[in-house]
Amino acid sequence: HDLGVVAVGFSGGQTKAGVDAAPMALIESGLIQQLEEDLEFKVTYDGQVHSYTDIMPKDDPEYRNMKRPKSVSAVTRAVSEQVYEHASKGKFVLTLGGDHSIAIGTISGTARAIKERLGRELAVIWVDAHADINTPETSESGNIHGMPVAFLTGLATEENEETFGWIREDQRISTKKLVYIGLRDIDRGEKKILREHGIKAFSMYDIDRHGIGRVMDMALGWIGSDTPIHLSFDVDALDPMWAPSTGTPVRGGLTLREGDFIAECVAETGSLVALDLVEVNPSLDVHGASDTVRAGCSIVRCALGDTLL
Ligand code: ARG
Ligand code: MN
Ligand code: MN
Ligand code: MN
Repeated sequence: HDLGVVAVGFSGGQTKAGVDAAPMALIESGLIQQLEEDLEFKVTYDGQVHSYTDIMPKDDPEYRNMKRPKSVSAVTRAVSEQVYEHASKGKFVLTLGGDHSIAIGTISGTARAIKERLGRELAVIWVDAHADINTPETSESGNIHGMPVAFLTGLATEENEETFGWIREDQRISTKKLVYIGLRDIDRGEKKILREHGIKAFSMYDIDRHGIGRVMDMALGWIGSDTPIHLSFDVDALDPMWAPSTGTPVRGGLTLREGDFIAECVAETGSLVALDLVEVNPSLDVHGASDTVRAGCSIVRCALGDTLL
């Protein structure tokens, strides 16, 4: 029941300011205290929201169509070490973002630790309105928060250490152990990638067709029992009605209960080893910021084993 918390105040994977303020907002609303007092976790937290200003390069021009490639590479590399540090000691790792580019760091860190400690491959459940699997070449925006899965699966690679060349094989995940839930805004190039690699994805259509209960059975069935799971939860998976304060909202999303239910189901497996909560941006739709923070906290508590009864 040991938990490591990493607070990542980083917004460089996209262009809207404010997503770096989310960890503080989540923590100030009492999240860590709840995990300690209500869920009885022994929490390791260095007490700071990292901003990584010391490792950020001054000059960071576009490269291969990526915006701020060196900054995102340096920060995710540092995050990878922070997450690995906790995970290699057998702790559950909770990372509070930040934009979704930080998952390059969190998942690479978890994947490496799990391979070393258990000799196992890591499964990833990616809950999101978006697939975030653009390569630098397929991306229409150049924003790296739309590319983390491409780098993590090796669909995108780089030679240069300074621009993600640091990602090694033992830090990657297999496209066969990746499952999406909640998708509804996929770019043309991403659709092609998902199809060509046979990646398991449950869109909002599947949730409407089968219901979230059956979708979770199918998603967890695909992964199989006894496989360590990293859950990467983008708050924009929720409908903007529940989580309006986010950089790329898409209507027609998950209800608040469906979001919590996904987290509850993953918690029930007993296989969850790490969780990211990303893309909360309290400075967008400020009137909805407290709702968005509240929804984020609820998802975290559910994923960490909180139950209604
Ligand atoms: N697909 C779009 C892009 O590549 C949007 C990505 C949104 N990603 C996110 N993590 N919210 O820019
Ligand atoms: Mn998203
Ligand atoms: Mn789009
Ligand atoms: Mn995302």
